[in-house]
Amino acid sequence: MNTVESNISLKPYNTFGIDAEAKYFTEIKSVDDFREVLEDKKLAGEKKLILGGGSNILLTQNYDGLVIRNCIPGIEVVSETEHHVIVKANAGVVWHELVLWAIERNYGGIENLSLIPGFCGAAPMQNIGAYGVEIKDVFYELEAVDVHAGALVKFSLTDCEFGYRESVFKGKYKGQFLITSLSLRFVKLNSAHALAQYRFRTEYGDIKETLSQMRAYDLSIKAVSDAVIKIRSSKLPDPKKIGNAGSFFKNPVVSKPEYERLVAIYPVMPSYLQKDGSVKVPAGWLIEQCGWKGKVVGNTGSHATQALVLVNYGNATGNQIWQLALDIQQSVKEKFGIEISPEVNVV
Ligand code: FAD
Ligand code: EPU
Repeated sequence: MNTVESNISLKPYNTFGIDAEAKYFTEIKSVDDFREVLEDKKLAGEKKLILGGGSNILLTQNYDGLVIRNCIPGIEVVSETEHHVIVKANAGVVWHELVLWAIERNYGGIENLSLIPGFCGAAPMQNIGAYGVEIKDVFYELEAVDVHAGALVKFSLTDCEFGYRESVFKGKYKGQFLITSLSLRFVKLNSAHALAQYRFRTEYGDIKETLSQMRAYDLSIKAVSDAVIKIRSSKLPDPKKIGNAGSFFKNPVVSKPEYERLVAIYPVMPSYLQKDGSVKVPAGWLIEQCGWKGKVVGNTGSHATQALVLVNYGNATGNQIWQLALDIQQSVKEKFGIEISPEVNVV
């Protein structure tokens, strides 16, 4: 029988460190636990919020319903061939622990996604990405339970409709499914030949430079992971020390003509050309140009080494952070005519 607690502070369960309360709170460790919660008559009329590591959520008010923290543990190899292995991680596995698990076994594919906080169950929600790799690149399938019907459903790569920080779970099926497991397809790097064939993703950002600073001349997934960890640790504030949820906004994607209009005014504006001809512009740069970088507003602010990361310096409320986000959004709109939209799930 699951323990369901009442009036619980969610402060330990969100990396912004917001002290909002949940009317009801429970942790599930299996699919059966979840079904038991769904069948509980006392909870039937309550709205439900699924939580993993709480690293991509902003709580702007107390939650008047049931918070279900998905802690289903376990990693297993589902099948393997000479060159590939399918690994199933249950939703409650900490993402970075899966990364370390894969690296230890010489399974290539997610080393660039090192140190992203949160649980495996939430990783497909926004198709987590960093340093040139997204989860869709190694995705095999996932299992999820329909929150209303209780049925276990499998989702293939196409079913998930992954995009930049998007999926059906953040879009049209929002709140409808509880992801219970995630299966990924890794490359087995168990021979010199396999290593020689493997496509290391080192072209993004400072990875190559960091590898050479680290004197990592023989490329390996461990070396790439170490380089990514080094870069991330130098820019992104550690949520254990300063409350944050990573990038608060998504990087906006603008049309080619819109980009040309902007670059004529701001020739140094960084940009990334997309396959369809549109152009992604870093929101961190736009926010910095508006003068927000390092600015402290009450208990909140835009971080000094990464303007895109909004932080809680102490006892900020979710609403104070949300107000800061709205002010930033407004000034970017006024200066550049670009609408930046939140990446973080605002509740
Ligand atoms: P939560 O915050 O608990 O939940 C996020 C959303 O998913 C919520 O809407 C929640 O209701 C829903 N959800 C959670 N679990 C489930 C489930 N099992 N089934 C259905 N819905 C669920 N993200 C990146 O993509 N790239 C980065 O480089 C990156 N860097 C970050 C750095 C820092 C310092 C921080 C704090 C965050 C960063 N993030 C990054 C954002 C975040 O780590 C990811 O989005 C992560 O996948 C969130 O996982 P979580 O378990 O904490 O999700
Ligand atoms: N920039 C600035 N000022 C800043 C921050 C960034 O000018 O304060 C410029 C940088 O100089 C660089 C560009 O913006 O030219 C991009 O910066 P960075 O490489 O730090 O990446 P980002 O676009 O800000 C994205 C993701 C991160 C991910 C990194 C690495 C989004 C919204 N964010 O950040 O993901 O880790 O790339 O791949 O796409 C997250 O989603 O929470 C997250 C941290």
